[in-house]
Amino acid sequence: MHPFHTIIEPFRIKSVEALRFTTRDERIATLARADHNVFKLAADAVLVDLLTDSGTGAMSSAQWGALMQGDESYAGSRSFFRFESAVRDLTGFRHIIPTHQGRAAERILFHTVLHPGDIVPNNTHFDTTRANVEAEQAEARDLVIEEGRQPGVIHPFKGNIDLAALEALLETEGDRVPLVMVTVTNNSGGGQPVSLANLRGVRALCDRYGKPFFLDACRFAENAWFIRQREAGQAGRSPRDIAREMFSLADGCTMSAKKDGLANIGGFLAMNRDAWAEACRTLLILTEGFPTYGGLAGYDLEAIARGLEEVVEESYLRYRIRSTEYLADKVRAAGVPIVQPAGGHAVYLDARALLPHIPPLEYPGIALLNALYVEGGVRGVEIGTVMFGLHPDGSEAAAPLDLVRLAIPRRVYTQSHIDYVAEVVIHVAGMRGQLRGYRITSAPRVLRHFTASFEPLG
Ligand code: F0G
Repeated sequence: MHPFHTIIEPFRIKSVEALRFTTRDERIATLARADHNVFKLAADAVLVDLLTDSGTGAMSSAQWGALMQGDESYAGSRSFFRFESAVRDLTGFRHIIPTHQGRAAERILFHTVLHPGDIVPNNTHFDTTRANVEAEQAEARDLVIEEGRQPGVIHPFKGNIDLAALEALLETEGDRVPLVMVTVTNNSGGGQPVSLANLRGVRALCDRYGKPFFLDACRFAENAWFIRQREAGQAGRSPRDIAREMFSLADGCTMSAKKDGLANIGGFLAMNRDAWAEACRTLLILTEGFPTYGGLAGYDLEAIARGLEEVVEESYLRYRIRSTEYLADKVRAAGVPIVQPAGGHAVYLDARALLPHIPPLEYPGIALLNALYVEGGVRGVEIGTVMFGLHPDGSEAAAPLDLVRLAIPRRVYTQSHIDYVAEVVIHVAGMRGQLRGYRITSAPRVLRHFTASFEPLG
């Protein structure tokens, strides 16, 4: 190895997309027209867009080249077989079912296997996962370890599921649990990883109680890198080898290829159970498409197949995880409260800790989010009481945490963009006393964060 410490972007740039600069006054007016909900902003009005790392990554020249190889045959396309073998090589699962994105895989799986009154345990369900469980009148139960609920507590695997709580659930209410899920990395809990030891523990419990174990595998490669960095005995292994072991412990997975598939669209459902797979394929044909394309174009399948190879490259993952940590280090050094340690794909600002004068039901996450946009044109997303505070019975309560997630698109922004974002965050934290809460003026009953309208208080 060479003697230099700087971790550089492991790519050079072949094509660029211009950013549009706006003034603070323009942003104030634009945000008001968007009902103070950054989801309703035109992306052109955003300077640095950290709303999500989903589908927003830059594809490689090899992926763009692969697009031209796309076989658009309706049935049995060459691109499907290439996709299927890339997914099977990585995961080892028998049945590989393409879907247009992750939530389609969730919907098809849950609609096929859940009954009203069932319980699906997970470390922390992502919002679409929870909504798809609840759409089947089943319960999404979050069993992340205690450390994972405390933003300031440092733990190497804060995404781990509480094995004792899972065991207690399987012991007392196991007849209502058709499958166990674990999300890697744990997005709603701060992008925190799950250890191999924890996954082995889940496997052992699932064997003991006869339950299938599914991974929500959206960020499997980032999780594998954390295992390599943090888990005893793993440092010498390739990320791909670790990822393979993660999948080998499970019976299936749902996947959004918009994250660690390095693609702009796509996903899959994979599993070993023949009977479930057959029922899922039937539903797939009804809502997504024929089983060899599942709502995707042949060229999308090519991009995913290639993306799954690139995402486990060491140079990529080293840069990816370090660039997120770099932003976290900068804002934390300035005293901004964040979920620690940094997540894989995002830095999570602790809006509740930063803005103690704004109670959870006045949405401190929205206050912080909107200030980041007005002051610097930076867009993030609230992961807090707006996203998770409304329950199926219509009642509203504070979510466990009020976070603002700054998710970093893959291979899109350079270090100077991130330096700028850190400057904006620190500036807004410095004016925290001036920030005020919000009230909701209208919202749908499910997944309200996407379309709710807000009004500033006071
Ligand atoms: N599971 C997790 C852990 C996710 O983070 C997401 C999406 C999904 C499932 C659903 O996948 O979007 O392809 O349907 N997360 C995005 C985000 C939207 O911004 O975190 P999808």
